[in-house]
Amino acid sequence: MTSTTNHPISTQLSSLEPPFDLSNYLAQRQAQVELALASCLQVTYPEKIYESMRYSLLAGGKRLRPILCIASCELTGGSIDMAMPTACALEMIHTMSLIHDDLPAMDNDDYRRGQLTNHKVYGEALAILAGDGLLSYAFEHVVNETKGVPPQQLLQVIARLGRAVGAAGLVGGQVVDLECEGKQDITLETLNFIHTHKTGALLEACVLCGAFLAVAPPADLHRLSRYAQNIGLAFQIIDDILDITATPEELGKTAGKDIQAQKATFPRIWGLEQSQRQAELLVDEAKAELVSFGEKAIPLQALADFITTRTH
Ligand code: FPP
Ligand code: MG
Repeated sequence: MTSTTNHPISTQLSSLEPPFDLSNYLAQRQAQVELALASCLQVTYPEKIYESMRYSLLAGGKRLRPILCIASCELTGGSIDMAMPTACALEMIHTMSLIHDDLPAMDNDDYRRGQLTNHKVYGEALAILAGDGLLSYAFEHVVNETKGVPPQQLLQVIARLGRAVGAAGLVGGQVVDLECEGKQDITLETLNFIHTHKTGALLEACVLCGAFLAVAPPADLHRLSRYAQNIGLAFQIIDDILDITATPEELGKTAGKDIQAQKATFPRIWGLEQSQRQAELLVDEAKAELVSFGEKAIPLQALADFITTRTH
């Protein structure tokens, strides 16, 4: 008997399939998300605000948040079409947070996604309003454009998006982040609070909202939640590392800002090497949460790996 005949049929069959190719998968999903984003927000009167919203929304980026939402929806039995309006809404919310984060009152940044920041092009007042416009449109878009999903599930999506943006999420994390600027005695606990709120809450919302749309059972939601919390923290640790090690060209924004603004970061507490190790441990834990889903979880597991190996 040859060794292959000892393997279960499912393994033999799957071994005939081509191995999962993350860059192909990302390129395909990115193209689908770009198309959906480009057509979801038309320019009308007053043109300037729509142009300003589109300027930041369509500036590229990894589109990691929408892709996480779609992958989670597909993993739990839903479809790309079902997830796309929420995926776009997540990108609108993320873009809003970046426009506001770059304002002079916050991080005062000149470049984002390889182009001038929104306020540098349109002025501060319009940049604030573009953020507000994107945030409110995100909710409208989910409700008006999602098809084939029970209203109860949409309510869960809306509630989770609201929570991720508000004081229990992005806003709360940003407040503590700004408060800690210039302070030397930041504890690991405070740093964890900043990142689980500023970055983690929205990443968790991406994964959970995808699963809400597919009516995933509570046990799956718990696994996905722990997966997302781990990749959220890993994502931020890598962000802190890249701020030190990557070039402005790679990042599409100013590098070295954390040290310049005396921000609390993981490398400041642990050093670069240990920070990288911690991020890898978190990614391993995240992937382990998905083992019970079997091969269906390969895209989300590969996305977790992408977080620690990315260069921008
Ligand atoms: C980037 O962090 C900023 C965020 C991830 C979120 C910022 C959140 C807000 C501005 C709150 C927005 C919410 C409302 C409702 C207005 P970073 O500065 O560490 O990263 P960067 O180097 O990419 O700027
Ligand atoms: Mg910033």
